[in-house]
Amino acid sequence: MSDKFYPYGRQQIDDDDIEAVVNVMKSDWLTQGPTIASFESDLASFLGVKEVVACTSGTAALHLAMLAAGLGKGDRVLTSPITFLSSANCARFVGADVGFVDVDPDTGLMNVHALETELKRDTTKIIKAVVPVHMGGQPVDMPRIYELTHGHGAYVVDDACHAIGASYEHEGKSYRVGGNPHCDMTVFSFHPVKHVAMGEGGAVTTDDSALAESLRLYRNHGMVKGKGVESESAYDSDGTINPWYYEMQVLGFNYRLTDFQAALGINQLKKLPQSLDKRRGIAQQYYRLLEKHFADGGVRALKSVPDRSHAYHLFVVKIDFERFGVTRGQVMNRLREKNIGTQVHYIPLYRQPYYRRCCSSEASEFPGAEAYYAQALSIPMYPNLTATDCEIIITELKKVLGGNR
Ligand SMILES: Cc1ncc(COP(=O)(O)O)c(C=O)c1O
Repeated sequence: MSDKFYPYGRQQIDDDDIEAVVNVMKSDWLTQGPTIASFESDLASFLGVKEVVACTSGTAALHLAMLAAGLGKGDRVLTSPITFLSSANCARFVGADVGFVDVDPDTGLMNVHALETELKRDTTKIIKAVVPVHMGGQPVDMPRIYELTHGHGAYVVDDACHAIGASYEHEGKSYRVGGNPHCDMTVFSFHPVKHVAMGEGGAVTTDDSALAESLRLYRNHGMVKGKGVESESAYDSDGTINPWYYEMQVLGFNYRLTDFQAALGINQLKKLPQSLDKRRGIAQQYYRLLEKHFADGGVRALKSVPDRSHAYHLFVVKIDFERFGVTRGQVMNRLREKNIGTQVHYIPLYRQPYYRRCCSSEASEFPGAEAYYAQALSIPMYPNLTATDCEIIITELKKVLGGNR
């Protein structure tokens, strides 16, 4: 047993990150200052996208995307049931309905055939947006989802909270998730378990400047100052805009990021390529160890789809608990006693009491998500895990499972 605790995910904050934050804390701008724009510009360069709108969380980013897309009551948004609550909640925040699209049980990714069926069924065209999720960091089939969804006249807002740095090939070209060729907006989270940790934080990326303008409006109370004001009372008698004048054009929110969070983000972004390499190296260790210790397939990694480069926010294994004669709860508790943290990503959203009440979907409609959920377990994945740590984790998993055979 290891004497250190391995959580399923954790941040890596170095001295240079702390220094970057402290420098901004000592400056004149704790919020609404220049570091936000620097962070947005660095992220835009990394992703190769025109516009980045930073905000307070991935959840806020999803909400802003729904607002900018103009969604509301009477509209319907489709998402995956295997995701965090926010991917669906954002639709409810604006009064839209939510529908779930089944996933491939071997990847946890949205099944594009199921999406096609849902869109075809929508003869009155109330589906106004699809929110596919790059589950765990593996990209979904963006080109196909975009083709189907745009063909239906709806927006694609991909939830890339797990997938900064992931990419996919399409017709001989490589595309970075969040670079926006096959979607309207992409959403990121900078929560500490994510690749870029900022305490809390999020961003929406888009190539559409009108959407970006709308995202910025909703981020800051729906308020406009200077250029863009509508009312005549904005102007002085000489036609210049009054310096004190501001106006609220829509019902917005305070979803502004602080400058010290942005400073942390800038520094974390610089280290993202190395941390992605480390995550990919750890995944290779796990693949090798699973092959060695569970050659019979009792424990398998999720399937990697060809031509997609995984960002490995999570490392999810599928365990045939029945075959081992042990429950998932027992496995998690016994691993915990060995200082190994695990988690289930995710309980299908249609099983949540709230969504049972407001969507009335039955688990039997989602055989892919049910099969995925029955066996999924996330084991530790973060950049400073060593090869020895991986060995300890898989050996302990084997002991915990083997004890009941
Ligand atoms: C897939 C997914 N979407 C959205 C979110 C929401 O992000 P945040 O926690 O920054 O609000 C998360 C957070 O865990 C997530 O995993």
